[in-house]
Amino acid sequence: MNEKHDFIAVFDSGVGGISVLRHLVRILPGERFIYYGDSANAPYGSRPTREVRALTLAAVDKLLAEYPLKALVIACNTATAAAVNDVRAAHPELIVVGIEPALKVAADHFPGGRVGVLATEVTLREEKFDTLLHRFDEDVTIYKIPAPGLVELVEKGKVDAPETEALLRKVLSPYLGKLDAVVLGCTHYPFARNAIRRVLGDNVVLLDGGEGTARETRRRLELAGLLENGSGEVILRNSSPDPDILRLSRELLNQED
Ligand code: DGL
Repeated sequence: MNEKHDFIAVFDSGVGGISVLRHLVRILPGERFIYYGDSANAPYGSRPTREVRALTLAAVDKLLAEYPLKALVIACNTATAAAVNDVRAAHPELIVVGIEPALKVAADHFPGGRVGVLATEVTLREEKFDTLLHRFDEDVTIYKIPAPGLVELVEKGKVDAPETEALLRKVLSPYLGKLDAVVLGCTHYPFARNAIRRVLGDNVVLLDGGEGTARETRRRLELAGLLENGSGEVILRNSSPDPDILRLSRELLNQED
């Protein structure tokens, strides 16, 4: 039986899901969160789908073995695309919320517009994304933009380094002057927002699914009568033995907007 004071687990391939955790903590301040990043195995985004699925299921099993959980937020577009159905099938007792690229927000705000989706190779090739794309491709013109290497830079804390900007310039140059909005379809990317903005300019709106995912989590908990109004707690864990990763995780969690 799930209890109100049980934990909400937040999972990502690395530190990216902290961009979602920040929204969760803001709108659910009385909850207990356990954040688990699998940086030892990141990036997930260029792996075969079956590996992403196996890594995700193993991480969820580990979390369930160590913490009483009432909900799991898969704060990783890649893991959601590859494994959310398997996680739900394996753990029907758990509230499971996944994240997907915020194409609906883009279509609502820019009808007839041109929207780039910056995401990992796995997210962009999975059937889940294809289904999403076909829901909105009559409303907006959608460009799939993979950004290999960007997750690795964010994992090193290089969220605004010259090499990050150089990578973004290379990836985004074919689209300059052509887009109304860019959906940040990987939870690592909002941390590189400043560099992305410098490359795209101020006229392109950046959107991400972090806030929507946090609101959906609150809605699901409320519906189940599992909202907690305690003193709040955030535990940060990571599979990498490198102590720098927890330092970076804390920094990203606490950084100013
Ligand atoms: N943060 C993950 C996402 O939202 C992917 C990172 C990775 O490639 O490991 O897609």
